[in-house]
Amino acid sequence: MSKPTLHVTTPMYYVNDIAHIGHAYTTIAGDVLCRYRRMTGYDVFYTTGTDEHGQKIAEAAEAKGLAPQQLADNVVTKFVDLWDTLNIDYQSFSRTTNDGHKTSVQNEFQSMFDNGDIYLGKYSGYYCVPCESFWTDTQLGEGEVCPSCNRGVKIVEEDSYFFRLSKYQDKLLQHIKDNPNFIQPEARRNEVVSFIESGLNDLSVSRTSFDWGIHVPFDNKHVVYVWLDALSSYITALGYGTPDGHFQKYWGSTIHLVGKDILRFHTIYWPAFLMSMGVELPKQVFAHGWWTVEGQKMSKSLGNSINPVELVNDFGADAVRYFLLQTMPFGNDGNFSYEVFISKINHDLSNDYGNLVNRVAQMVHKHFNSVMPHLSSTHADARENPETYKKLFPLEHHLDELLDQTVRTVDAAMDTLSFNEALKGIRAYITATNKYVDSAKPWTVATEGDMDRLGDILNRAMNASLLATRLLSPFIPETADKVFVLLGVENPRLANSHKLKADMIGGGQKITFNTQLFPKVDAKAYLDKRGATATTATTATASTATTSTATTTEGTTDAVATVGIDEFFKTQILAGKIVAATAVPKSSKLLQLSVDFGGAMGTSENATIVAGVKKTYAPEDLVGKTVAFAANIKPTKIMGVLSQGMILAVDNGTRHFVMELDASVAPGTRIK
Ligand code: MSP
Repeated sequence: MSKPTLHVTTPMYYVNDIAHIGHAYTTIAGDVLCRYRRMTGYDVFYTTGTDEHGQKIAEAAEAKGLAPQQLADNVVTKFVDLWDTLNIDYQSFSRTTNDGHKTSVQNEFQSMFDNGDIYLGKYSGYYCVPCESFWTDTQLGEGEVCPSCNRGVKIVEEDSYFFRLSKYQDKLLQHIKDNPNFIQPEARRNEVVSFIESGLNDLSVSRTSFDWGIHVPFDNKHVVYVWLDALSSYITALGYGTPDGHFQKYWGSTIHLVGKDILRFHTIYWPAFLMSMGVELPKQVFAHGWWTVEGQKMSKSLGNSINPVELVNDFGADAVRYFLLQTMPFGNDGNFSYEVFISKINHDLSNDYGNLVNRVAQMVHKHFNSVMPHLSSTHADARENPETYKKLFPLEHHLDELLDQTVRTVDAAMDTLSFNEALKGIRAYITATNKYVDSAKPWTVATEGDMDRLGDILNRAMNASLLATRLLSPFIPETADKVFVLLGVENPRLANSHKLKADMIGGGQKITFNTQLFPKVDAKAYLDKRGATATTATTATASTATTSTATTTEGTTDAVATVGIDEFFKTQILAGKIVAATAVPKSSKLLQLSVDFGGAMGTSENATIVAGVKKTYAPEDLVGKTVAFAANIKPTKIMGVLSQGMILAVDNGTRHFVMELDASVAPGTRIK
């Protein structure tokens, strides 16, 4: 019998910038789903890739002084490296600038044109470049901003080909009604339904005001709308329209994982294009929520993006994978905080799971010379009959029942992409196994010298740890692999998840377990270190300037580095009036200042600046003073507060002295 198939996709990521945890989130979720299904008998194909055409990328490249292809080539390697770092096991990484993709998109465009679904017209309306999205007057948010990202829109007027989206309105609604799982979660489906019911306009599917894209095959002046281009990659990556058999094999079993912001493209435009081309629709589009950082949207301008590479360097890929999927239901928004992240590593991974494997392995090491004990014949015989087993070995019988229940819970949760529920179920099983060890008291049994009973307890506890590891393996593959090696077993490909129980290890294998799976993280030390790094960055001191030396061409390091005057003038050193000051909680060095720059930084709002001057000044000493600030330093989070600049101060080794200006100097005056 052939295996059931599953095709999972991530969005095609834009290459204007490097990835943050939001991008990593989708890709990890897809990887976990694929690993789980592979383990339980599916033939799985996981595709990811990059969206490299369009105005957004062209403008980003221009701003960096690069050709768009160059920018794409640079950023793509970063995505590929990141997926390796996070242990993403994908089968295809496609780029929209690949020749095969380009040809396929042109063929698709042609086929929609040939069947009368595409016609020439003129687009006149609004366009959001960051979202690559067209908007009508009535759709715009207050203040004429993009309703999706709240950024400014452009007015666009240009020749354009249109797709007859309106024609598919009823067919789309019918499909959504007939296939309740097509759009998940349910609340998102309702949003889409009301959007369609409010009436679909035909969609502009080509642009003529720039050139960075796939040319319309029969009209070279036009490039294909970047969303049509990128969405098509879901089928071109499977070899649609070529003799490659992947499309026939996997398409239709497809689950598209996307963020909530790009739901409309995937559930209205994409299915309508497919209907026009006569291609079956994907099985499901699941829209997950968004990550914020300390309650704020991650953004370049705020400089508060969390870089997944840094997290992996500090905590390991498995901790990142676990945290992102455990914290909230997949459809909900969530907030990233280092405190919560570290506490999950310490509680869930180190204390509960790592400690369980470790304590059992230590006892096997101590009492059985590192060789896994077999079940005693009394225990093994009793296990043949559930009733007898329940009577004679109630603790172990309970453990078996729990395993069945856990496997059912995990399976049901993975069916609905409820990753956090799956992890909750596995964690309950781990807690129960720890309790089993506590109740069975192997250390007492050891002092009584009952080696049969001791062997039974350790065998059962080790098997329970192993089963927990198997269930966890899609989430924490690196650690799970380590455990399998140390226990001398493999992670099986099973016919289905219920076979897990039958896959117990008997005994006799050498256990070489001697490692801390998840060492505890000292949260205070870590946060202080982050705070300290950031504090140094936000308090420019005289000592920093004099110790900052550079290697000269002669290779000496004793010359003070010079900067060109142009470089120097990139820093906006401004007079700022401190209008409020408070101590940063739990910090001996930091004050949080509210600073008036008189609108010189493009906003009338006061800037929040964290300054490491608390040892010299009480908050009230500073209020009302006008002092020097570097006002355009990239915002940095310090002890949980986003600092939007840096105070200038002289450091005499023990204290800092701010550079106070005459009270008559207007806030925002430039110092040069
Ligand atoms: N290129 C389009 C997708 C085309 S798919 C045919 C695009 N790219 S993107 O790089 O901007 O975004 C990719 C994904 O990242 C989207 O699903 C988006 O929702 C997700 N995220 C971006 N920021 C996010 C968070 N802060 N949190 C969670 N996911 C977020 O859109």
